[in-house]
Amino acid sequence: MFIKIALSVLLCSIALAAADTYEGYKIYDINAKNAFEKEVLYQLSSNTEYDFFALPKTLGEAARVMVQPEDQVEFENTLNKFTIDFTVVDENVGQTADLERAQNSFLRTVLDTSSRVSFASFQRYDDILRYLDELAQSYPSRVTVKTIGKTYEQRDLKAITISNGDGKSNKKVILLDAGIHAREWIAPAGALYVIHQLVENFSANSNLLKDYDWVIVPVANPDGYEYTHTNSRMWRKTRKPASTNCYGTDGNRNFDFHWGEVGASSLSCSDTFKGPTAFSESETKVLRDLMRSLTGRAKMYLTLHSYGNYLLYPWGYTSALPDTWKDIDEVAQAGAAAIKSATGTKYTVGSSTNVLYAAAGGSDDYAFAVAKIPVAITMELPAGGSGFDPKPAQIEPFVSETWIGIKAMAEKIISKY
Ligand code: ARG
Ligand code: ZN
Repeated sequence: MFIKIALSVLLCSIALAAADTYEGYKIYDINAKNAFEKEVLYQLSSNTEYDFFALPKTLGEAARVMVQPEDQVEFENTLNKFTIDFTVVDENVGQTADLERAQNSFLRTVLDTSSRVSFASFQRYDDILRYLDELAQSYPSRVTVKTIGKTYEQRDLKAITISNGDGKSNKKVILLDAGIHAREWIAPAGALYVIHQLVENFSANSNLLKDYDWVIVPVANPDGYEYTHTNSRMWRKTRKPASTNCYGTDGNRNFDFHWGEVGASSLSCSDTFKGPTAFSESETKVLRDLMRSLTGRAKMYLTLHSYGNYLLYPWGYTSALPDTWKDIDEVAQAGAAAIKSATGTKYTVGSSTNVLYAAAGGSDDYAFAVAKIPVAITMELPAGGSGFDPKPAQIEPFVSETWIGIKAMAEKIISKY
């Protein structure tokens, strides 16, 4: 009896440890050849044990899914039964994560003298806060940094406001955030690059700050972000306990607009858990309050995620489009076109539900519908590595390309509003 309990405690802790380290986890690419095979993938995706990184609607675009060791035999058997083609793109996510963690911490020590912030490696939350504070110190007339709240683990949530220093208050605003989802590391890097450009390359970008201030929250889920650095690379959610066994709520399912109606889970262990109530998380409350404090002034809300090269706009909760969808579409198309002509990278533009999937409770729907920000866009940056883990050498090309799109969207906003 005792041995049995001891054994199951041991097995259980091994399983928990594996869940954290991703030891033996595999990532598969699956090519559905026809609508039936796509349907099988949709069925599989309803199993919360399978972590679908991507499940494109278009035939011919591969789905990507991470599967834990104990489910791999059954998973592969199912695919084989329906003769669905797949390849393994990562044989051991845990090993990859260890290697990448070591490489990133080495690169973090390499100094970049061209700027106060490095895009040669992914930054820790401390580094990012230090950078914001240094900018506020060095450019007091153009930069203010405010603590807008605290995370569940009591980290400061900070917003940086960037102006042109002309002293005029109550200008129109572009509001940007990143990192609602912890593992999407390229998103906070993208936000940092925007900050870097607007502040440290001010003279080249002063047109973007003449009639507009920018308010940027570069890491909207710092607890999750740090957890992906220290414990569990593929963590997505916040870190507040959600039940006795499971942690975290999906911040992008936690906003109070058609909350939980579609594409969100009621299961606390799910990666798309909507939370026990809308705005159950202090991180989403803080974003809500920031958005609402800018109602009237904010003309664009842009939230950076990864991955998949999408510029998404409302609605996420229904396939219907908002009355003013053409105004948003025009801005998003301008971003996609600028990126296409600069680097050839293709972005798909459309409403979340129509081009990706239906998911209610997103920050974009809330910003648009409740905070009345007329243009709300979710930008899904490109994939790197197996999706969420671009190589450090890809950071700079990705974020500078992203900046080209953001700049074009901002210019469109400035000319329209
Ligand atoms: N990949 C993002 C997510 O799953 C897309 C969000 C798009 N917006 C929305 N309201 N569904 O959170
Ligand atoms: Zn995301």
